Parts: sequence; C-alpha cells; structure tokens
Amino acid sequence: MSKLKAIDNYTFTGNQPALPASMHKTIPSPEQVVEFFKTHERVTWNLTEILEIPWTDINLDLLTPADAYVAESAMLVESNSPDYVANLLEYFKEDQDACDFMMMWAIEEWKHYYALRDYITKIRIGLEAQKQNVDTRPEHAERLAKIEASVKRALTEEVADVRESSEQNWGIPAHYTPAQVVANTTLQEFVTADFYRNHARHTKEPVLAKIEMLLAKDETRHEMFYEQRTKDCLKHDPEAMPMVIEALKEFGMPGAYLLDDYDDRRPAMEQAAFPTLADKKAAFVRLFAKMERILGRAATMRVFTEGNYLTDGREDPSKKKMRPEMITRLITRKLA
Ligand SMILES: [Fe+2]
Ligand SMILES: [Fe+2]
Repeated sequence: MSKLKAIDNYTFTGNQPALPASMHKTIPSPEQVVEFFKTHERVTWNLTEILEIPWTDINLDLLTPADAYVAESAMLVESNSPDYVANLLEYFKEDQDACDFMMMWAIEEWKHYYALRDYITKIRIGLEAQKQNVDTRPEHAERLAKIEASVKRALTEEVADVRESSEQNWGIPAHYTPAQVVANTTLQEFVTADFYRNHARHTKEPVLAKIEMLLAKDETRHEMFYEQRTKDCLKHDPEAMPMVIEALKEFGMPGAYLLDDYDDRRPAMEQAAFPTLADKKAAFVRLFAKMERILGRAATMRVFTEGNYLTDGREDPSKKKMRPEMITRLITRKLA
C-alpha cells in the first residue's frame, strides 16, 4: 500500500478559526461517564474467549473474499485507535469528563483491532493447513488466493502505513469546535456499528459474524455516548448548530483518510454489508433518523443535500448531491 496523502482541505469549515485549547470543552457529564463504565462492566465481552476460539472453528468454505476484505479493512481502521485517542485526549485536555470517557473507549477500540487481527491470523493458519490438502477446483483456488491476499496485506505492512497516515491526519481538524468534534464522532460510531451489525447478518462465516456482533454492540454504546455529548452542547449553545451542520457536510469515515485505496474499499464494503438496494436504502433511513434525533429534520436535510456525504466528505468534481425529494421519499416510505 502506498503512503497516503493527508487530506487537509475542509470544504465547509476551512476558514473557521481554531479555538484556544481552554475552549475545547463539552458539557460536564461525570455521571454519564460513570454510567458508561458501569454498562461497560456489565456487558463487556471477554477478549480471551475470542482469542481462544480454535482456528479450526473458522469455516473457510463459507468465507468469501469480500468477507476477508471486510475483516482486513475494518482491522486497519481499528488499528488507528492509538493515534485517534491520542489526538482526542490532546484536543480535550481541558475537559476531564471527555478524557475519562476516552480512557474506556480506547480500550474497547483496541479490543476491536486485536480481535480482528487474531481472526485474520487464524485464517492464515487455516489457509496453510488447506494447502496440505490440495483442492484442484479452479474457482476454489481463485477464492482462496483472494482471501490470502487480504490476509497478507493485513498482517504485513499495512498497519504501519495506517499509523503513518494518521500521524499527519486523524480526520478531525484542529479548528473544529467541541460540538463539531462530538457530532463527527457520533456519526462515525453510528455508521461503524450499523456496518458491523449488517455485515454480521450477511456473512456465512460464523466466527466473523460473532466477532462483528460484539463489535457492533460496543460501537452502539460509543455513538450513544457521543450523541448525548452533541445534544448537550447544542442545548447549551443553540448557536453552535450552523457550525455543526457545516462540519457534518464534510464528514468522511476514517477509512477515507487512512486508506489510500478507500475508493475501492468503500463500495466493496458497502456491497458486503448492504447487498441489495433495499438494504442500502434502509441503512440510509437509519442514518437519517439518527441525525434527525440530534439536529432536527431541516438541519439533517441540509447535511445530506448540501454536503459531500456520497464522497466521504471530499469535494466531488461531479457535484453529485442527494436530492431532497429523494430523501423525503425514502424516509416517508419507511414511516408509512
Ligand atoms: Fe471499533
Ligand atoms: Fe467505536
């Protein structure tokens, strides 16, 4: 994987001046931080149990190249957590509650990386074992070769490349206000949770499905915590809303700035988790509903119709935008 160029043009907030670090504060939330930890203790899953799953439990016959590509891509993005956390801790250093939350959040994100890495390592062991029993069916060989390529990429140089990319660019610019930061992380965690949950439903490989369902539950708790932070910021300062809208208009998933071949990965991952048009529409309706709960209908409409959601926040030369009528049709059909 070649080295990624940092994305540093923020179409909608580029001219926004950076705040002093002393203003990087959300609304105090010590009780909610403790609540998050209590839930963490109650529902947390045991990484040891995942690590102890024998590699023979992974059903390679049911694993598709797309599944391996998903595991590889997700692992790479999750591998970026130390840099992401370091940047957030630095950004929120004046906000004790935000930092306290991040300590717990960080350990959960690390588990995601490690569970996926362990899974990919076990695929590699399984592939090696299969080589002993030579299967001459050409379609079988092709499928395994694709899986092997994913495994190789994931376990060799790619993690180092992602860490290098995230050193220069962690996706949330320093000029964002606290409300913009937590709105961005809410959206990112929501999309991640929805992705894992849906891919878990579609993959036929049971161990991957199990891991992804565990990850999805964590991501859901993350997005709920961030959602509350965003709502509290907006309630405390309704004038923060226009800037939050501008930031969300340029929202992109972390993969977009961490992985230089994300333009290939995004459609492949979408296809794997949301294979039909109906799946894709339903995912959009869920995302819209989530944002509507935080921002209201009109602001959410602006995010999707004026922003660069379809191109992960990047300026789209074709200026392709979602049309309001299309969105209205999607969300009302769902409600009907
Ligand atoms: Fe994660
Ligand atoms: Fe998360």
